[in-house]
Amino acid sequence: MAASLAESGEDAFRKIFKFYKRRNPPPDFSNVLDFSNGLPSGKMVPMKLDFAAVNDAQAATVGLQPVRDWRAFGLQGYPGFIFISNPFVLGSQAFWVRQCLKTYPQKPNVCNLDMHMSPYDTQDIWGKSAHDLRLPSSGKRRPSTLLERLRWVTLGYHYNWDTKTYSADHHTPFPADLHQLSLHVTAACGFRGFSAEAGILNYYRPDSSLGIHVDKSELDHSRPLLSFSFGQSAIFLLGGICRQDPPTAMYMHSGDMMVMSGQSRLLYHAVPRILPAPQGHTSSDMDSCSLALSRRDSSVVEPVSQDDWEVCFRYIQSSRVNVTVRQVLGPGQTFPPSSHQRTGADRSGGYRDEAEDGEIGKRKRSGSDPDSVETQ
Ligand code: OGA
Ligand code: MN
Repeated sequence: MAASLAESGEDAFRKIFKFYKRRNPPPDFSNVLDFSNGLPSGKMVPMKLDFAAVNDAQAATVGLQPVRDWRAFGLQGYPGFIFISNPFVLGSQAFWVRQCLKTYPQKPNVCNLDMHMSPYDTQDIWGKSAHDLRLPSSGKRRPSTLLERLRWVTLGYHYNWDTKTYSADHHTPFPADLHQLSLHVTAACGFRGFSAEAGILNYYRPDSSLGIHVDKSELDHSRPLLSFSFGQSAIFLLGGICRQDPPTAMYMHSGDMMVMSGQSRLLYHAVPRILPAPQGHTSSDMDSCSLALSRRDSSVVEPVSQDDWEVCFRYIQSSRVNVTVRQVLGPGQTFPPSSHQRTGADRSGGYRDEAEDGEIGKRKRSGSDPDSVETQ
């Protein structure tokens, strides 16, 4: 079905995007690749990683299994694309979810709520939301908490959504823990000396989507782009270098990682749909008790308190968080003198949370439209 739609030319990606976004009737998901079920099929090719680049103790500090146990795949026709099916140790995802919900939204990091609220009001998003999120659902609708209104957070070089650039003047320290995780994952994939310089966190509700785009605002495209997903599942579409190229659909579940490198670094991609996580995925996988037992002093990951986990668990029962980590500058590279020039992320206007008719670019995101959450 998806394949026959693709043949009609004009913008095959857009047609497939709309196909998977459709609610009524729901689409046929049988062509969606699923890296989580055992044996590879179709275009999936098992991939050998660099086991020696990261030792087991290093992997454990960031909550990862030994690299030799990771299930990594390439995709035929997409050189440089690597999919790693949940390489986290049981229990360690809880830490990363807690960082995404409690720590990374804190100042000096930037989020969509800053665009229309005072720094005082956005200073403790977690603290202002935790109580209400813990309340048992009474059936009555309560006002959304700030955490539920969070759509994006930027880290490191803060992406400017209006100019579609990063600049030297808008930078805060990149979180050391997320840098370590990124360093080990990229090293295992054969990339030495990755420097995590910018991060974009996307927070998805069940009806959110992420429009068709290419990430090309970073100045060095020879460095890989990393993506980590937590919570509810998603359909990810990976296309070609032209929008006419029909994309491949795959599931991203909690804990899954993607590396877009080489020829796949600049491919069109999108997230047309959020889907419920397979049964048990967000609970047993994240039981943070097991982490407390296996943790060592040098660990980056730390146990999540029962109180914090209650809030995180509630949140990810209906939401998805995606973290992309980018190296912006090549070794020794600096920003060009005029930081206002457009390096041109080709996003064809706004592409996040598209209008109901699915038209890409209908809502152009700007500083004054903080709730339409697109990435660059
Ligand atoms: C992005 C992106 C994909 C995802 O933030 O640029 O492509 O899975 N995210 O959310
Ligand atoms: Mn992207």
